[in-house]
Order: sequence, then C-alpha cells, then structure tokens
Amino acid sequence: MNQQISMFGVALLILILITAIILGFAAGPTSPLTWALIAFLVAIPFIHRRMAERSYIEWDDAYSVGIDSIDQQHKRLINLINQLQTAVDYSTGEEFEREALDELVDYTKTHFSYEEELMENYAYPDFEPHKAQHEKMIQKVDEVLAEYEQDHDRAMRHALDFLKQWLINHINGTDKEYSDFLIEKGVK
Ligand code: FEO
Repeated sequence: MNQQISMFGVALLILILITAIILGFAAGPTSPLTWALIAFLVAIPFIHRRMAERSYIEWDDAYSVGIDSIDQQHKRLINLINQLQTAVDYSTGEEFEREALDELVDYTKTHFSYEEELMENYAYPDFEPHKAQHEKMIQKVDEVLAEYEQDHDRAMRHALDFLKQWLINHINGTDKEYSDFLIEKGVK
C-alpha cells in the first residue's frame, strides 16, 4: 500500500507540474520559473530511481569475514533480501512475495546451521552467544511471518527494515569475531 501511495504521490506531482507549466506558457512570455519547473519535471524519474536504489543493499568488500564460503553465503542472503525488496517495490503479488520470503527464511536457516556447525566442530569459545543471536533472529522472523498473515504490507516493511539492519550489523560485528579463529583452523 505504501508503495502504491508513493507512486500516486509521484503521479500527482507530475500532474501538478504539467498543469503549472501549461499555465506558465499560457500566461505569456516564458518565465525562468516555468523553465525551472520543466527541469524539475525531467529530473523526477532520475530522482525517483535514485531513491528506490537506496532501498537495496550492495555487497561491500568491507563486509568480508575473510572466509570465502561464508562470504558467498552472506552475498546470497543480501541478494535474497534485495529480491524481497523488489517484490515489495513492484507489487509483484502475494505468490512471489511468499516465495521470496520463504526462500530468504530457508536460506537464513541453512546459513546459520553452516556457521554453527563450523563453530561447534572447532570449539569456538563464543559459539553459544553467537548461536543465541541466530536463534533470536529466527524468532523475530517467525514473528514477521505471523504478522504477514494479518497485514502483508506492514509485515514486509518490518521484515525488510529489520533484516537489512540486522544482517549488516551481525556480519560486521558478531560474524567477524570468529574470522581469525576459523581461518587459523584452516576454514575457507
Ligand atoms: Fe553469518 Fe552469524 O550469521
């Protein structure tokens, strides 16, 4: 609904600008204000695209934990979050939304299991607190899934806000803490 409101707002703004420009031309010699409105009208698609792009996460090498197998999984998680963002931005419908959400939840669990197995097998000292963070995250995702049954749009917004913030913070904080330990064990 929010995306639809946003698109409606852009369409309304374009309509107002076009009306103002037509009135500006009809009023006599073209004023600088009319030309400024034309320039603004032309710039709207670019501004709108830039604002939409900011909703997506881009992989940054600074996110690397130094272990390729885990970096690849983190990249996939980012792609799946972006896929969910696309589903919301383009109102792709409930079926695609559900698929994107399910795929993200499933892959998140797969990734957590992979990390936990490594940490447990190599007796990583902070295994338990790290695992507790994963469990808390899964619990939050379950809450979002329950919310999705009540209000799709609100649940999707909550899911995206939460997932983007949580994932980047977790990768850059908690995950990086095991880097040296696991690299020393020969994990790649
Ligand atoms: Fe990469 Fe601890 O999740």
